[in-house]
Amino acid sequence: TGKRAFIAGVADDQGYGWAIAKTLASAGAEILLGTWVPALNIFETSLRRGKFDESRQLPNGSLFEISKVYPLDAVFDCPEDVPDEIKNNKRYAGASAWTVTEVVDSVKKDFGSIDILVHSLANGPEVSKPLLETSRKGYLAASSASAYSHVSLLRHFAPIMNQGKCGSVISLTYMASEKTIPGYGGGMSSAKAALESDTRVLAFEAGRKYKIRVNTISAGPLKSRAAKAIGFIEKMIDYSKANSPLQRDLEADDIGNAATFLASPLASAISGTVFYVDNGLHTMGMAL
Ligand code: NAI
Repeated sequence: TGKRAFIAGVADDQGYGWAIAKTLASAGAEILLGTWVPALNIFETSLRRGKFDESRQLPNGSLFEISKVYPLDAVFDCPEDVPDEIKNNKRYAGASAWTVTEVVDSVKKDFGSIDILVHSLANGPEVSKPLLETSRKGYLAASSASAYSHVSLLRHFAPIMNQGKCGSVISLTYMASEKTIPGYGGGMSSAKAALESDTRVLAFEAGRKYKIRVNTISAGPLKSRAAKAIGFIEKMIDYSKANSPLQRDLEADDIGNAATFLASPLASAISGTVFYVDNGLHTMGMAL
């Protein structure tokens, strides 16, 4: 309650970022979103036209408020990093100040500080290719968008995160980092392994320097826009339901609830963890 959250990686109402925003709002947090520049127009238009009103409903019947939507491309840290092909791309034309440092500056100017940072974004241009067939360019792109983006957001937001209430950073990872998931390719499995390792190191560094907690949620499969791009999300969902200890449908709200717990004082002593929210699937070594 009374906290402000910045959630990076929301461009519709189908993914984990949206569910986390909704649950945090329901718990009383103020919500700021970071939306990928090429997806910004359609997201803001849909929001304005009420397309998301049904999924904006909180248990008490009111619609949760989004204080501000910031354009963001977490692959770039400052304007000097942006190549001409992106600068001149018409999908970026209408927006400005969307590199990580510029977004942090804008949030600082608009709101002063935040308490909670959520990283709910990933991109792997070659995700549908096996690792064995992934190019260097595709591998590094997956790593930049899905792992370094977390380091960069934390690095630049940390100085404006409230230490008194114990700031909290949460990201989303997937079990393909530690067990082979055939089809989760393009270096995305490598990027998730980096994200999980970085969670431990950043928990130490940001814990000592800023008293900030850093955790990642290893989530089970959800049919989000990003997951559909992988190409076999239905199979992942069916497998998970059939083989997990709990054999129940995994809802985006399950992840929203876990994130809200991790962001709350109830989790004051939890940092550097990979927190599984997957109906227990990660424990299984043999399907039964
Ligand atoms: P989503 O499509 O709702 O979220 C991904 C977001 O990342 C999109 O809004 C996209 O516009 C944004 N994005 C991509 N590149 C970006 C960039 N350079 N800068 C800023 N934003 C960028 O999909 P989902 O699945 O909810 O993904 C959220 C997180 O959850 C990701 O880290 C994903 O790997 C993770 N996750 C998803 C699982 C699933 O089955 N859906 C399972 C486990 C983890």
